[in-house]
Amino acid sequence: MSKYLVQKSGPLSGEVFISGSKNAVLPIMAASILTAGECELYEVPALRDVEVMSRLLQSVGAEVQEDYDSSSLTIKISHVLSEEAPYELVKKMRASILVMGPLLARTGKARIALPGGCAIGARPIDLHLKGFQALGAEIIESHGMVEAKADKLVGANIYLDFPSVGATENIMMAASLAEGTTILENVAEEPEIVDLANFLNKMGARIKGAGTDTIKIEGVRELGGTKHSVIPDRIETGTFMVAAAITRGNILIHNAVPDHVKPVIAKLRECGVVVEYNDESILVKGDVNPLISTDIKTLPYPGFPTDMQSQFMALLATVKGSSTVMETVFENRYMHIGELNRMGANIKIEGRSAVVEGEKTLLGAQVLATDLRAGAALVLAGLMAEGVTEISEIYHIERGYEKFLSKFRGLGATIIRIED
Ligand code: UD1
Repeated sequence: MSKYLVQKSGPLSGEVFISGSKNAVLPIMAASILTAGECELYEVPALRDVEVMSRLLQSVGAEVQEDYDSSSLTIKISHVLSEEAPYELVKKMRASILVMGPLLARTGKARIALPGGCAIGARPIDLHLKGFQALGAEIIESHGMVEAKADKLVGANIYLDFPSVGATENIMMAASLAEGTTILENVAEEPEIVDLANFLNKMGARIKGAGTDTIKIEGVRELGGTKHSVIPDRIETGTFMVAAAITRGNILIHNAVPDHVKPVIAKLRECGVVVEYNDESILVKGDVNPLISTDIKTLPYPGFPTDMQSQFMALLATVKGSSTVMETVFENRYMHIGELNRMGANIKIEGRSAVVEGEKTLLGAQVLATDLRAGAALVLAGLMAEGVTEISEIYHIERGYEKFLSKFRGLGATIIRIED
């Protein structure tokens, strides 16, 4: 198992370029199942999760050509050869569930192993399945597999009990090829939903309202191939913003969309961090003011993103005062707290909240990346910790951050990867 060794570094300074969004490219890749035409994708990050999705698409019959030098990917699925997403791929990545809607819509059938992924709560898929059912599919669950079948999909009015990102995407993809109109209410409003809707509309879909809480989809008979550039990754952007703050550094972040990270900007400013931005770059100065505590509550977009909670908590452990962090999106997303406390932080779980007593001197320790973003939080803490922090299970981090080490090293971080 490989590990990262992180040494106290910084203040980090310099410029960094943000890659294409992991959470946008995965559903877009899945959406290519909806057409026999060729889809050309640009700004595709070279990530383990993207590789897993490529293999998953290949297993259902796709020809996939990757060009990592130009960050592009071409997908063509002339014929779907299998409607099944095999367990050995699905267990590696929860987002594999996103092939279900497109497979069902294109072939009338989809069979998928129940998904794995980050260990952050139960993460059921009931909302996805309820949506497919409302469109006319029959759902059969047995032996760890779930199957959806339909002679044809028919548009419906669907209200989501919770604005799930994945369920919104999956149902939107399936409804694009359904007969008639689908109205999806209480849906997720994340920028990744808008990017997927833009991609589908370029393929010939008729989707309106993406980015609001109600989406209208007029089904079409057929979709065609298209070309699309994936939006920048807002969570990678936020992670580098926190890197500037936690090391009291000064980082200029390029290829960012400031609008997508508004809650992170607001919370950093409350802590005393200076943030300036224009259309595509963000300058974060953690070296101007002494930093102070603030409170955070994670919420669906445009609220504070759950995917930034652990990184921000690492920052709060280093600032003056006491902060409360409340996670409302996932029920078990506090696994990093034990690891941060091993490094000298003082964080206590009280009910659904965590109370962070700040201004602790962090000390390097052996710690475990329990999920992708928790791993990023430990690297950030390691940059401020005395001595060396040894982080294991780093495959989680490499699932979702492109060129993670070289980008951090480019800003002055001392961090190496060792093979055990
Ligand atoms: C996506 C993101 C993930 C992010 C999350 C929330 C991708 C590939 N991943 O995950 O990085 O942390 O959004 O912003 O885009 N839920 C149900 N039933 C369902 C579906 C979800 O109860 O059928 C619950 C989940 O258990 C969770 C909450 O809804 O508590 C949010 O999940 P969801 O928005 O679906 O997250 P993902 O799409 O899995």
